[in-house]
Formats: sequence, C-alpha cells, structure tokens
Amino acid sequence: MASLAISSTHLRLLTLLVLLLAPSPSSSTWDSQAAPPNSLPVTRIPLNDLPSLSEAEYHVIIGYGTPAQNLSVGFNTRDYGPTFLQCKPCGTACDVPAFDPSQSSSIDQVPCGSPDCPLKTCSGPNCTATTVNGNGVVLPSMTVVTDVITLPWSPPTTMRNVRANCLLMGTRTSDSSSGILDLSRDIHSLASRAPLSPDTVAFSYCLPSLTETQGFLSIGAPRPEGNMTYTALRRNDVFPKSYLVRLVGLGLSIDGADIPIPGGDALIAVGTTFTYMVYEPYAALRKYFRSQMAQYQLAPRLGVLDTCYDFTGLSDISVPTITLRFAGEVSLELGVRQKMYFHRRDNRSLGCLAFANPAYEFPPGVAVIIGTLAQEMTEVVYDVRAEKVGFVSNRCD
Ligand SMILES: *[C@@H]1O[C@H](CO)[C@@H](O)[C@H](O)[C@H]1NC(C)=O
Ligand SMILES: *[C@@H]1O[C@H](CO)[C@@H](O)[C@H](O)[C@H]1NC(C)=O
Ligand SMILES: *[C@@H]1O[C@H](CO)[C@@H](O)[C@H](O)[C@H]1NC(C)=O
Ligand SMILES: *[C@@H]1O[C@H](CO)[C@@H](O)[C@H](O)[C@H]1NC(C)=O
Repeated sequence: MASLAISSTHLRLLTLLVLLLAPSPSSSTWDSQAAPPNSLPVTRIPLNDLPSLSEAEYHVIIGYGTPAQNLSVGFNTRDYGPTFLQCKPCGTACDVPAFDPSQSSSIDQVPCGSPDCPLKTCSGPNCTATTVNGNGVVLPSMTVVTDVITLPWSPPTTMRNVRANCLLMGTRTSDSSSGILDLSRDIHSLASRAPLSPDTVAFSYCLPSLTETQGFLSIGAPRPEGNMTYTALRRNDVFPKSYLVRLVGLGLSIDGADIPIPGGDALIAVGTTFTYMVYEPYAALRKYFRSQMAQYQLAPRLGVLDTCYDFTGLSDISVPTITLRFAGEVSLELGVRQKMYFHRRDNRSLGCLAFANPAYEFPPGVAVIIGTLAQEMTEVVYDVRAEKVGFVSNRCD
C-alpha cells in the first residue's frame, strides 16, 4: 500500500552485517501468499560488471510455440524494441537455449510490408533481415514471427499471435537470457495485449532483492485490493512507449524540507540498477546524506556511486529515511537495501548511496531514472488503461 506515513528519521539496521557476511543468499522459498494469482516467478540473476559491483537481470520462464518451448527471458518496460527471442539456427552456435521455429506447429511468418513488419526493406516475401558473413554469404539474421505464448501459471494461459523478433545469428543482446518480453506501451507489447477485466490491470511485478525472496511478474494482473493510491502516467514525445511519472520530491524526514525535483519526469526502468537524477537534487541528497552519515568512514567511490562508506566491524548502522514522493500524494519509502548498495571488497563491508548523477545528459523532459534497486520488494502496478501506476510496499516478502 502506498503509505503517507513516514517512519522515524533513522532506521535501525541490526542485521546488516550478518547479511553482508553471508553474501550468498540461502535458497529462497516461494511464498504463494505474497504473490497475486496468475504470476510468474521472477529470478534475480546477478551480473558482475565491475569488481564488486554486481548488477542484476530479472528473468521469468515462458512457453512459446506449439508444443510450448520453455524459455527463460527478461522483460523490459522501456521502448527498447519489440519482444525478441534467440532462435535456431543461431549462426554457428547457440550459447543460450534458443527457440526452434521449425518445431512449432502454430508459428506464422509476418509478411514483408505488413503493418506488423517493422523492417523497411526485407529479403524475400517474409519480414526477414539479412546479413553478409565473412565469406560473402548472405544469411537471414532476424525474422519476425507470431506464435502462441504460454504463461505457465495454474492453469496455464495462452495468448495467440504474439509477435516476436527471432534473432537467428546468435547475436548477443544486453540480456543474458533467451530473449526479452516487451512490456512497453507499444501496441504489440504484452502489456497492450493483456486480457483485461474490471478487476485486472495490464501488468505488475515485484523485483526480488539479493537476499530475500523470489519476486513475480503478472500479466493481466489482479488489481490489488484496498485503497491503493496511484500516480498518473505522463506523456513524453521522446519516450512515447515508456512509463513516466511525476516524482515531485525526495522526502527525508517527517517535518524536514523535501528535496524538490525541478521540472521533469521520472522514467521507471527495469534495465538500470541505480537511480539517476539531474545534478541539483542529486547534489542536495548527497549533501544531506553525508551530513547524516558523518560518523561513518568514507570509502572510495564505486563506479558511478560517489557516496560510499566502510562499515567493517560495525554491528549496526543507521541510515537516513528516503521517500520517493510522487504526484497524487503517492509515496514510496525506500528500504535500506533499496537506497544503499552493499558489497564486500578486500574483506571490507562497504555500502554506497544507490543514487547517482550520470555523466550523460538526460533526454528532454526526463529528470530521474528510477532503477531496479529502488523498486525491489515493491509491487509496481501498471494500470495502463487508466494511465496510472501504483506501488505496494513489501510485496515480495
Ligand atoms: C514447460 O514448463 C511447464 C510448466 O512449468 C511444464 O509443465 C512443461 O513440462 C515444460 N515443458 C518442457 C518441454 O520442459
Ligand atoms: C515465408 O513464410 C512462409 C510461411 O508463411 C514459409 O512457408 C516460407 O518458407 C517463408 N519464406 C522464406 C524465404 O523464408
Ligand atoms: C478507503 O478509503 C475510503 C475513503 O477515503 C474510506 O472510507 C475507507 O474506510 C477506506 N478503506 C480501507 C479498507 O482503508
Ligand atoms: C580476506 O580474509 C581471508 C581470511 O581471513 C584471508 O585469507 C584473505 O587474505 C583476505 N583477503 C584480503 C584481500 O585481505
């Protein structure tokens, strides 16, 4: 439930170092009470990008084709493109499990020139792109197909004519899975295709944290019960298919001044770990955070994270409250692991403020990119038809 109540300025964290000393999570148990019905378990896949800086991908298992071929795929809410799958023959070798189009009886090729074909030029009658290999041989690199998707919940649900870009050359993508589901606002996305009733929303997910539980992704998700508060989706010409909301400020305490976020919307991202902000609010947050954390020893920066501490030997720490305040009186208080990134390096227990000001320019109209760490353990509810997004705290638990 989005909560307007703000807890005390400081949050006591007694278990922090126990968790830090046991970095490999114990096998997580799936709490069927927590997830809504009709949801796919989400697995968090850590990726080591830099020494000690582990980013994550979130994967679900879906079926595609008839009979259903099970594939572990990521999902994206930004307009990075349509649903795609690694497909056989994958050039010389498939290094992830790939969909085999020849084994599906229900597959259809999208014809070239059809409104469903995103290519301007195709090779041949089908919506297929080609590439020339080192020996000068022209080979199909990608073909656009439609087939049945099976969401393996109980009972399994199928959706027909779900479009996917089939990558045929073993092309590596930004995700280590067998594909990515498009959950953007595009008309072909699963968010747009989700079966809707008055009791359902386009989709919702809860991203699991490193140490806690498994999360879930629910397409055509049950509308959460109770008095949910929602914040309106915004329109942005640069990202017409992404989900943007108005983040009005960062709440730091009950009566303390908030840090306002000047003009610009917040993009909710699934492919970005940390939360990025334009300079002024970030600098104000960093200044406040450092003043509240002055009793701890500063540690060297970690990649983009420039506010890091060495907590080695401490049995508990306290971390300032940070609440994301959205338009419409919606707020999301971040848990300790949602605002700090904890890691170990050279046997030291380190933690960094998980917010950053990036080196790049924000696109017009965007002031914040809300990353996955801030979203972990919260159900993010996308009521796309009503153009609003809501948050239910501690939902993966
Ligand atoms: C695919 O997953 C479903 C649900 O978990 C399972 O019932 C089915 O046997 C799997 N199929 C294959 C081919 O592994
Ligand atoms: C085009 O798609 C049809 C099925 O719709 C298929 O029979 C045919 O082999 C495809 N052509 C090429 C060149 O892939
Ligand atoms: C929901 O909100 C309405 C109006 O604010 C209130 O009357 C009702 O008691 C609330 N219900 C719950 C379950 O909190
Ligand atoms: C970390 O601690 C272990 C066990 O005490 C020790 O063997 C190792 O050398 C230490 N590593 C570093 C980088 O200090």
